[in-house]
Amino acid sequence: MSEIKTIGVLTSGGDAPGMNAALRAVTRSAIFNNIRVKAIYRGYKGLITGEIVEFKTQNVSNIIQQGGTIIKTARCDEFRTAEGRKQAYDTLINEEIDALVVIGGDGTLTGARIFASEFNYPIVGVPGTIDNDIYGTDSTIGYDTALNTILESVDKVRDTASSHDRLFFIEVMGRDAGFLALNGAIASGAEAAIIPEIATEVDQLEDLIKNGFRKTKNSSIVLVAESEITGGALHYADRVKKEYPGYDVRVVILGHVQRGGSPSAYDRILASRLGSASVDALLDGQRNIMLGIENDQVVAVPFTKAIKNDKPIDRDLLRVLKTLSI
Ligand code: F6P
Repeated sequence: MSEIKTIGVLTSGGDAPGMNAALRAVTRSAIFNNIRVKAIYRGYKGLITGEIVEFKTQNVSNIIQQGGTIIKTARCDEFRTAEGRKQAYDTLINEEIDALVVIGGDGTLTGARIFASEFNYPIVGVPGTIDNDIYGTDSTIGYDTALNTILESVDKVRDTASSHDRLFFIEVMGRDAGFLALNGAIASGAEAAIIPEIATEVDQLEDLIKNGFRKTKNSSIVLVAESEITGGALHYADRVKKEYPGYDVRVVILGHVQRGGSPSAYDRILASRLGSASVDALLDGQRNIMLGIENDQVVAVPFTKAIKNDKPIDRDLLRVLKTLSI
């Protein structure tokens, strides 16, 4: 028999569409199993300050379609300190919360791993980030919606790019990961993607120009992953202006538009499955794991693996993009 009577749930780090659907799934699956649910506001910050509300099934009504996170999120520096984590632990004891589900990205899972091992406390992680940069899951909650937002924007930029015969560098998010840029480029029919994963191997701009990306077209769209490694879209636009002055260049930085909006069907289903599985896992005695999706099956990945390993990009996608952009 499980000792767990109350589960705490929080969302942390950058918000992602589908976090609300995950919160709903955790809340309802717990209540379905006669477990109480306490929602912790503003991520780890709320654990330190005690901003906690007991949730009933109605608290999560009408949120599956909403972007953002109704329990707020934050990036919490105090939780990086031993004192902060001790305060968080005291809150959990005072609130009689027996286990935690944390929904967030890499930083959230790293915090969870440290906390879980310091206090021998049961935690299950659910990957929620638009970046899709988490090892052990084919997709993270929010990634599909963000990709679709990128497509809508690129389609619009394409209209003006082709009217003016211009070259556009469109910067997308990803924090040092190129999944949004690469798959966004394939899905939007862009000419190329500049991504951090291969930035130290090749000069991607030179490669692009050498491959004659304008042989058959007057306008071009290149997606650039934001990253100190790539230097971002402005860096490439400056380079083109200096090194290849024949081009009429413009830059679009999509920014936080990519983080908002109603989650796609894929993200809602993923969030519902992982949120529900996180409660099952805790009741089953599992801890210190992240749940992911692989080949459409829910899988459990130890925190250590999910955090330590970098998720590789599929290099075949680069080939497909190059082939289709002639
Ligand atoms: O991790 C999600 C993400 O949107 C990254 O793609 C981006 O680098 C970062 O968060 C932006 O963070 P903030 O919203 O704190 O500026």
